[in-house]
Amino acid sequence: MSSAGYRIVLLPGDGTGPEVLAEGRKALDALAEGDAAPWRLEEHPGGGQYYLAHGREWEPESEAAARAADAILLGAVGWPGARLPNGDMAGGALVLGLRSRLDLFANVRPCRLYPGVLHRISGEYRQVWDPKHVDMVIVRENTEGLYTPARGVLRRADETEVAVDTRIITKKGAERVIRYAFELARARPRGAPEDGVRRVTCVDKSNVLEGCRFFRATFDRIAKEYPEIEPDYAYVDAFTQWIVRNPEHYDVVVSTNMMGDIITDLASVLQGGMGFAAGGNIGGDHAMFEPVHGSAPKYAGQHRVNPFATFFAVEMLLRWLAERHSDARLGRQADRLEAAIATTLVAGRARTYDQGGEVSTIQAGDRIAEAIRGIPR
Ligand code: IPM
Ligand code: MN
Repeated sequence: MSSAGYRIVLLPGDGTGPEVLAEGRKALDALAEGDAAPWRLEEHPGGGQYYLAHGREWEPESEAAARAADAILLGAVGWPGARLPNGDMAGGALVLGLRSRLDLFANVRPCRLYPGVLHRISGEYRQVWDPKHVDMVIVRENTEGLYTPARGVLRRADETEVAVDTRIITKKGAERVIRYAFELARARPRGAPEDGVRRVTCVDKSNVLEGCRFFRATFDRIAKEYPEIEPDYAYVDAFTQWIVRNPEHYDVVVSTNMMGDIITDLASVLQGGMGFAAGGNIGGDHAMFEPVHGSAPKYAGQHRVNPFATFFAVEMLLRWLAERHSDARLGRQADRLEAAIATTLVAGRARTYDQGGEVSTIQAGDRIAEAIRGIPR
């Protein structure tokens, strides 16, 4: 951190990314009121839309800024028709690119249900799961697995005959993400909602896949270093039904990249939908926080999408900075933001369309800012 405060780089990206990020910024501004802001916000464009306009995903200065930042907040990337010449999604440099280039090996996705949040099931809005039963964190390996760029096609006579994606599981990659999950379980205040037991569940397909057997063997080895934490196991297919029927069993869950991608979208249903799902991409030296929902192009420009995932992403960012720099001021601001989120949700005061309400993205941001102002510094 410099004397001007923490440098936070904002990457709004595409579609509804800039809309939710503007509300995240509003929350940060409200937290900083009445005091010299302990952070400096700096915005950089980039993504699929930027690519269509400029022929590159973002500027080298923007990447350098992200690299030099104390923390990064990403909106979302991806735009229909925006593809790189090789077929990859344009804008990927900001998400997959940074995950790999900054070595953000753990994708940490809390799944917690706050009172007042509804579940939309078959078009109806109701509370299906009890908030006291949903409080877990899913840790997804973020740099290898099926996302390793070891892929290709075999083309003969102008025809694609074979396509291959190679799933790489390394000792280093598995060890560090699994250790992260155990450390997190050790630090969490309560353990699993079911029984208060500190538990890490390894989600894999080790009954079939070699890489998963290696991942699980690594898990078993590391689990021995944490005798106070219960090691737990689930095959990914079975996990998808247990998490719905018995979410209270889960405390911390760890999985490989693609499996983690899929189970976190499923888990978001328990917490009220993708509009509430935030993630932190955490490495040894860098971290990037984001709402998990993506750019939602069909809602772009309408200011209808739910900004709560971004509020949670901001909260995670502040907590990460607070811990990294042993800065209690930031921890206090994260607490204020969380309290503002919780009181607004429980009062049902900011229900966007995905919660059956008519509150706009901007109004939801205004209500959070107002709630923040009501909470003592
Ligand atoms: C996510 C997203 C990304 C992923 C996409 C945008 C490449 O789905 O963050 O979960 O697949 O990891
Ligand atoms: Mn995803």
